[in-house]
Amino acid sequence: MDNPILRIEHLYKSFGAVQATEDFSLSLETGHIHALIGPNGAGKTTLINQITGDIFPDRGRIFFRQEDVTPLRAHARAKKGMARSFQITHIFENLTVAENMALAICAAQGHNFRFWQNALDTRVVKDRLSPALDRVDLSGRAGLLARHLSHGEKRQLEVGMALTGDPKLLILDEPMAGMGPGGTVELTKLIRKLKGSLTILLVEHDMDVVFSLADRITVLVYGKNIATGSPEEIREHDEVRRAYLGEDT
Ligand SMILES: Nc1ncnc2c1ncn2[C@@H]1O[C@H](COP(=O)(O)OP(=O)(O)OP(=O)(O)O)[C@@H](O)[C@H]1O
Ligand SMILES: [Mg+2]
Repeated sequence: MDNPILRIEHLYKSFGAVQATEDFSLSLETGHIHALIGPNGAGKTTLINQITGDIFPDRGRIFFRQEDVTPLRAHARAKKGMARSFQITHIFENLTVAENMALAICAAQGHNFRFWQNALDTRVVKDRLSPALDRVDLSGRAGLLARHLSHGEKRQLEVGMALTGDPKLLILDEPMAGMGPGGTVELTKLIRKLKGSLTILLVEHDMDVVFSLADRITVLVYGKNIATGSPEEIREHDEVRRAYLGEDT
């Protein structure tokens, strides 16, 4: 790979007796959707937390856009172009969709939160709000309280908020979690639309979503990268089928 946006080298992280990340290495190709799959407790969220700088590895290094970011905290990595959405949604339920987005725009500009009441009136918000809502197909929902959005729309809003800082790498931790069958369609479309303007690392349990979106897939089991390859390669991989897809081969 000539120019990986992210390179992880020999990462280790334990919590007491639990080895949550074990000798994990991976490179992400710029512009790809890279899916990270693995059973519950495999260490997916722990890995993401180390990539974003929310927790620090015991050993190993992380390079982002050719720079060693291993010692940097989360806000410093965010400034360099990393953004994430969480496994549990992080939006203000009692603010409108537009207000939530305005706050994210202000935060991305480094504005002071004490003045958030005036956020909707600032020049930068006026300029950026409607394209930001449009980007995640929520223009028609601007005035609605966030708690009245469907589960999928809340996720769209959260993704839109993560995009306000114009990230180069977007990390999505189980964006489809809690959605009923069919609820995943809009968000899958949105993720596909975003591809091309940025690189996406996607943690997801819904295999239909993973296999329809991913350029490459990594399988994590007990903290280890047991396989990385194209969707076809992963589908055919014996160890993956046994360990994760639950097939007897
Ligand atoms: N802060 C922590 N303290 C102690 N143990 C932890 C901590 N965070 C994670 N673990 C343990 O590390 C392992 C990996 O957890 P992690 O949440 O990363 O898995 P995951 O792949 O994201 O699972 P899921 O699919 O359920 O979200 C688990 O055994 C978990 O119990
Ligand atoms: Mg998790």
